[in-house]
Amino acid sequence: MKLFPDNFLWGGAVAANQCEGAWKADGKKESICDHLTAGSLNKNRVFTSGIIEGESYPSHTAVDFYHCYKEDIALFAEMGFKVFRLSIAWSRIFPHGDDEIPNEEGLQFYDRVFDECRRYGIEPMVTLSHFEIPYHLVKAYKGFSDRRVTGFFERYVRCVMERYKDKVKYWLTFNEINFATMPMGNLEVLGIINREDDEVANPLDDRNLRFQALHHVFLASARAVAAAKEINPEFKVGCMLAHITMYPLTSRPEDMLLMQELDHLINDFCADVQIKGSYPGYVLRYLEKNQIDLTVEPEDEAVLRNGCVDFYSFSYYMSNCVTTEEGHATTLGNLLGGVKNPYLETSQWGWQIDPKGLRYTLNKIQDRYGIPIFIVENGLGAVDEPDDNGCIHDDYRINYLRQHITEMERAIEDKVDLIGYTVWSALDIVSSGTGEMKKRYGFIYVDKDDQGNGTMKRVRKKSFYWYKKVIQTNGGDLTDIEI
Ligand code: BG6
Repeated sequence: MKLFPDNFLWGGAVAANQCEGAWKADGKKESICDHLTAGSLNKNRVFTSGIIEGESYPSHTAVDFYHCYKEDIALFAEMGFKVFRLSIAWSRIFPHGDDEIPNEEGLQFYDRVFDECRRYGIEPMVTLSHFEIPYHLVKAYKGFSDRRVTGFFERYVRCVMERYKDKVKYWLTFNEINFATMPMGNLEVLGIINREDDEVANPLDDRNLRFQALHHVFLASARAVAAAKEINPEFKVGCMLAHITMYPLTSRPEDMLLMQELDHLINDFCADVQIKGSYPGYVLRYLEKNQIDLTVEPEDEAVLRNGCVDFYSFSYYMSNCVTTEEGHATTLGNLLGGVKNPYLETSQWGWQIDPKGLRYTLNKIQDRYGIPIFIVENGLGAVDEPDDNGCIHDDYRINYLRQHITEMERAIEDKVDLIGYTVWSALDIVSSGTGEMKKRYGFIYVDKDDQGNGTMKRVRKKSFYWYKKVIQTNGGDLTDIEI
């Protein structure tokens, strides 16, 4: 049976800071990510206010997409990508963030990338802010906690939307915006640093300031949507959330209520604002209860109302459980861990693998919003070992993707309006959470290790050939292949 619509957008995704490298090339200045050291599963990444000699900062060289983009895009085209999700590094375009004039060389780089995509008929999908706020805005303004930064963001957005209006149709405003509902979102989403040399996973948190900054990010997102509609009415703009799917661990009503409360705050809040255009009641209650007094200007209500997105996009990697009971085993996860689910296996990085949770999540989103849905991140971070012939038999990744695509099919049968799927990640890139190269997600192996050694050669993994067949058959054939 043919389930995926003919125009379904199959592809892969990356973010500038995790793939481009060339951190100071052609006028680019530092972004917040350029100040994050490498970590690992057991060692948190640290933000350093200066660049410390001898420290490793993975974004500085990453996998050099900046210079290898032609080869990489040719490989994406060989797999049959219909769409390629990438982010624009804000600090390539406005190096300090508050500059009056954009950096022409930065603009030309993305011209070349989009032209290359178009040459192969690949639709670029652009994230406007993927943990890449210019460092100057962090230092001089404390990121989005300063309302003026929304104006700088709008200037940047208008600039790139005007420039690429005939090359890019799909835009996402803030990557995993709901990260900011948790202390961890201070740095990467909001650009707030409350103490020198902070740990990304465990920052000093000023909750009032964080929610104020998030309010400004909502305004920035809404203004980006309004700008998009003015510049090209054909543009499609999406919100982007990390959907942290949760289950109550037990059937105790207390667990159900806790699950609902967390689900509301972590998963629903940001999308409700970006899709419905106003703050939901449960958030007003949360703000009241926690004595968070937001400064809201009279025009904000209309700005939010007039800046609703066209589609819902999200990342989905794992699920976890919540309970009011103490003493249960815990698990790690994307942005947020939780209580261990006894029915699920975990990845090498301790994230619980839950394909059926994806079907549940897609149905939940469909019921709540009724707008088109795009899965813009899903994939498995794993250690890949080339064999003696240099081949990478990543059957574990194929299994993970096959199970998730199968649940996407079921969700489409459930009448979910799913329009596309970009696997994280198109090629191996630096892990955002740990800063490792070892945690690989790609269809294409990049020969570089955590110490920065390697030829940077690109090698097709087994999953490359498998995904090519999936795309060729529009999801009709998910069976194994021989290589
Ligand atoms: C998401 C981010 O949180 O998950 C990506 O949008 C990130 O930037 C991805 O790479 C996977 O997380 P990690 O920590 O394994 O790289």
